[in-house]
Amino acid sequence: MMVCHGNICRSPLAKFLMIKKLGEKGIAGYEVDSAGTSGAHAGEAPDARTIANALTHGVDVSSNRSKQFKSTDFEKFDRIYVMDSANYADVMLLADSEREKNKVKLFLDSAHPGSDDSVPDPWYGDEKGFDKVYHIIDKACGSIADKIKEGELP
Ligand code: 4NP
Repeated sequence: MMVCHGNICRSPLAKFLMIKKLGEKGIAGYEVDSAGTSGAHAGEAPDARTIANALTHGVDVSSNRSKQFKSTDFEKFDRIYVMDSANYADVMLLADSEREKNKVKLFLDSAHPGSDDSVPDPWYGDEKGFDKVYHIIDKACGSIADKIKEGELP
């Protein structure tokens, strides 16, 4: 489960890119979804800038509809990948066992161990920021898919 704040910029992209990487590497049997810690954009398509930038890379994220992360998602998913440290804090507040807390990972730290990094929020920035975020998420999804292929769930 990919999680960001609004579920209209980073996490929909992470969902579609992870599905793409798993497909390219011939990895089957995983369900990938996305959600936001905020419900403010629930029901909305991704931000127009995210849709437009992803399309320049041949990826169509327009079918995503924003939804808020909920505590039952801890049961449904083996990993909750959060895009930044604020998302991490918000999701951890909803976890009510060590088992649930252990499922929550900083997306970039799982992709690139030791990085302890956040995916920047492109919302207030310009088109360049959206492209930068695309490349960060694309690389990280590739790295996580490689690890899954090797039998690890980072
Ligand atoms: P996201 O970006 O968390 O990557 O979907 C944002 C979208 C909306 C807002 C903030 C970040 N907002 O404040 O509405």
